[in-house]
Amino acid sequence: MCGIVGYVGDKEVAPILLDGLQRLEYRGYDSAGVAVVNGKGIEVVKAVGKLKELDGLITSNPPSGKMGIGHTRWATHGVPSDLNSHPHADRSGDFALVHNGIIENFQRLKDELGQKGHRFISETDTEIIAHLLAENYRGDVQQAVLSLIERLEGSYALAILSRHEPDKIFVVRKDSPLVIGKGQGENFIASDIPAFLKQTREFLILNDGECAQVTQDGVQIFNRQGEEIKREPLQVDWDAEQAEKGGYQHYMLKEIHEQPDALRRVMSNRIAPGKIELSELSLTPEQLRSYRRIQIVACGTAYYSGMLGKYVLEQLVRIPVEVDVASEFRYRQPLLNRQSLVIVVSQSGETADTLAALRLARKQGARVLALTNAIGSSIDREADQVLYLQAGPEIAVASTKAYITMVAAFYLLALYLAKVRGTVEEEQLTTLIAEVLRLPELAAETLISSEEMIKGRAQVYKLQENAFFIGRNTDFPLALEGALKLKEISYIHAEAYPAGELKHGPLALLEDGVPVLAIAARHSLYDKMLSNIKEVKARGADVTAITFAGQREIEESVDHVLYIPSVNELFSGVLAIIPLQLLAYYTALERGYDVDQPRNLAKSVTVE
Ligand code: G6P
Repeated sequence: MCGIVGYVGDKEVAPILLDGLQRLEYRGYDSAGVAVVNGKGIEVVKAVGKLKELDGLITSNPPSGKMGIGHTRWATHGVPSDLNSHPHADRSGDFALVHNGIIENFQRLKDELGQKGHRFISETDTEIIAHLLAENYRGDVQQAVLSLIERLEGSYALAILSRHEPDKIFVVRKDSPLVIGKGQGENFIASDIPAFLKQTREFLILNDGECAQVTQDGVQIFNRQGEEIKREPLQVDWDAEQAEKGGYQHYMLKEIHEQPDALRRVMSNRIAPGKIELSELSLTPEQLRSYRRIQIVACGTAYYSGMLGKYVLEQLVRIPVEVDVASEFRYRQPLLNRQSLVIVVSQSGETADTLAALRLARKQGARVLALTNAIGSSIDREADQVLYLQAGPEIAVASTKAYITMVAAFYLLALYLAKVRGTVEEEQLTTLIAEVLRLPELAAETLISSEEMIKGRAQVYKLQENAFFIGRNTDFPLALEGALKLKEISYIHAEAYPAGELKHGPLALLEDGVPVLAIAARHSLYDKMLSNIKEVKARGADVTAITFAGQREIEESVDHVLYIPSVNELFSGVLAIIPLQLLAYYTALERGYDVDQPRNLAKSVTVE
């Protein structure tokens, strides 16, 4: 999984490529490179390490030219190294390309090309594509590119330069994202829209099995038979500022602070006093009533939002809900049929396992509803129905504002299904809707009231090697998400348990000073949580509790309390998660780690 960019126009290309790559660094950041077309042919500069290494090389010796491609890498085949970095070229230097994805039949192709005399210098699957192009070239680059579609198995978004037709960038994709930005006398290509939002708002989305030729003056898209396709560009209304840090030290902190607005956006046009409508769903009330079960599938943070969604859906809609991690779901031969509603959740809309789960579900006759943040993504295009999360671009690898909109989308869906299926009385529905409408305001209050206290807690957490998160009911998936955030960016080993489960094993690990974060944001289970808190406190744990304002007696049982505004307990998740995100952020900051780009991780996981 990697980020690719390209530019053709009348400006010097190297700084434009570097700028675009910087915005895609969330997709991978173990090495980077560019290829530029100029009088010398195709000049390649690449370097292992973060983008600043490449930046240094380019600044000291800039490759001159007005057209080029670039890449930021997250290694799959071959360790991060100068040689394995992209772009890769064939022996003659006639073709150079960058690749996002994995070629699954690469060993077979490598052997075949090897027998024809091709020699390779890297360990990557990508290098063989350059050789394959050289091997298949018969005087027409477009034909050679189309022939790749027949030969390559796996996933790829490719941007290709050729000395044979030096005024064009050729692109082709299957199961990895690729967009083309249209400018005036210049055009752009990228894995994702934010790469070139500063330069243009018009994007053409390339579909699977399509290729395109991008020149300074135009873009032509072709299907796999080589027939030209007309496509209307998508107008993107994100403000370029939205994709920048906006004065915060890190994207993650900025994105945490954007959560009240993200909540407003996910709710707008969908919920109002006494009203809940999801008009973008084209399912009839009969169809919505026909489902016998719901299956949620997702990965990572999106999976934890689904776990929380299960509690809310089951309680309000009285329908059985199962939740699976996508990489498990796709291989467990799930039982689905036309009466199953499958909900896939994905911020990026490109997660390979989630996409495979979607395809599997559709094959089995289930309808798939996607909750995604990425318009034009593979999941968006392949799902039967889509609810957009409207979180805006999320850049930090650790997801925050996308997560909160996923949870809110589950609230909306549960209320809507409850209305259509008549599982909640009208009066109660009106009260619940009123509660949900308060959430953006309450999230803003939570941010203000928790930040300073959490900074203090981070001083203690930064010294720890282990931490425990506990909760019950909807607070349990929150505990899992809080622990994941801490692991991801501060590298502290954090485990989450349903609070009632501690005595079945984990209690053995508690001793003096071990930090326990207890979430007690369910009124109905408050007393039970209090008992569990006393159990850990009795073993010497250092307990920080998160609970509703007014629950003062908890202060006697814990070391620290953080109060969140009181709201119907079904919807407390979007508030209680905020201090947990802040705790992970400030702890990682105190430990001096790279908050936005944690080691070994990537934002968008387009490989299995
Ligand atoms: C990666 C990211 C996580 C994300 C997960 C699922 O692991 O680092 O933050 O939750 O993928 O991504 P998705 O785009 O499908 O929500």
